[in-house]
Amino acid sequence: MAKIIVTGGEVLNGEVQISGAKNAVLPILCATLLADSPISIGNVPHLHDVTTTVGLLGALGAQLSIDEKLTITVDPTHPINTVAPYELVKTMRASILVLGPLLAKYGHAEVSLPGGCAIGSRPVEQHIRGLIALGADVVVENGFVKAKCDRLKGGRYVFDMVTVTGTENVLSAAVLAKGTTILENCAEEPEVVDLAHCLMAMGAKIEGAGTNKMIIEGVDSLRGCHYDVMPDRIETGTFLIAGAMTGGRVVCRKTRAGILDVVLQKLEDAGAEITTGADFIEINMHGRRPKAVSLTTAPYPAFPTDMQAQFAAMNCMADGVGVIKETIFENRFMHMNELMRLGADIQIDGHTAIIRGVETLTGAPIMATDLRASASLVLAGLVAKGETIIDRIYHIDRGYENIEEKLGGLGAKIRRVPG
Ligand code: EPU
Repeated sequence: MAKIIVTGGEVLNGEVQISGAKNAVLPILCATLLADSPISIGNVPHLHDVTTTVGLLGALGAQLSIDEKLTITVDPTHPINTVAPYELVKTMRASILVLGPLLAKYGHAEVSLPGGCAIGSRPVEQHIRGLIALGADVVVENGFVKAKCDRLKGGRYVFDMVTVTGTENVLSAAVLAKGTTILENCAEEPEVVDLAHCLMAMGAKIEGAGTNKMIIEGVDSLRGCHYDVMPDRIETGTFLIAGAMTGGRVVCRKTRAGILDVVLQKLEDAGAEITTGADFIEINMHGRRPKAVSLTTAPYPAFPTDMQAQFAAMNCMADGVGVIKETIFENRFMHMNELMRLGADIQIDGHTAIIRGVETLTGAPIMATDLRASASLVLAGLVAKGETIIDRIYHIDRGYENIEEKLGGLGAKIRRVPG
């Protein structure tokens, strides 16, 4: 298995181009199934999860082409098979996002239930209940969510909890329902807004995207268009932390400050100087050691769970004590034990981690357990003395485009070795 080897101690300095957002491009690619003519999606990141989604859409019968700038054109006008098998879904939970579009467009969909996940149990009953509120018959049978309807009808659904892909799935179905749908307690994440903007560019009528209440006026059909995916706020945050931890100066280009408010605030609390412009964010630590910060993860606009592991890594070497509370996923602390192998001082009490910063982390062989956990291990490796060898890095390729090249471009000593 390929590994990433990081030799710590370099101060990062330079510019990095941020890629399109993983968690926006996945629902958008699935929503292309709704169109009645070809649709092209730009600023697509080169990620393993994108390859999996392209494979899934292809298996369903869509015709796809990808140009050298990574614009993906999907032609969903060919006969579509509405069954998404376990072999494809099990490798990526976000495959459940084809459920709403297939059901809304074809009146039928069978999508294998995603299995367990390293960070939590991650059920999908909210997706199902939202679709039932739009008039669908849904059963879970033989490991599949089997849904059918004549035509979906506008309805009202109040999500029991804030769910990102749940909101996206029901939204992607409601756009073709007959009549008006009201969705409440919606996720307000920027990626939900990006999906809504893409759907609107296809002709959907949606009000309230980015708030907790969306009103959707169903239309009879949606058309193809071109849509550019938003920048990845989690990739941006990860590179900013790399700058903070190494005491350096990093400019993230092709990104947006407005989608990272709390993260930037926490970095300022850590002692960073942050400068923002229309499409860039610069962090400058002026060689200082970061101060520890405390945080609690919660749905947007609060602190994102997808940045928790990276801030944990920073706290391990920061000045002071940081308390991290994870409220979204029940098992998202697996990186903590690996960070302890590098010499971090961490006490875990349920969903709270108390991290006392140490002066020096020391490199060791460690294991990536999920996507954001792997990012935190790479970050720790950047400051650990000696070599940190990270195994199971396939997790990182799911969500970070060329991480070793991008960090290398900033001056990090990082390389990938084949397994
Ligand atoms: N939940 C339920 N029932 C449901 C849906 C969700 O109980 O029907 C619970 C989950 O178990 C969790 C909470 O609600 O405890 C929130 O989960 P959510 O549904 O919002 O998560 P998700 O949609 O499966 C997306 C991102 C995750 C990100 C979370 C939270 C995508 C493809 N994935 O997952 O991204 O952590 O929202 O912001 O958008 C990552 O990129 O590394 C990643 C895991």
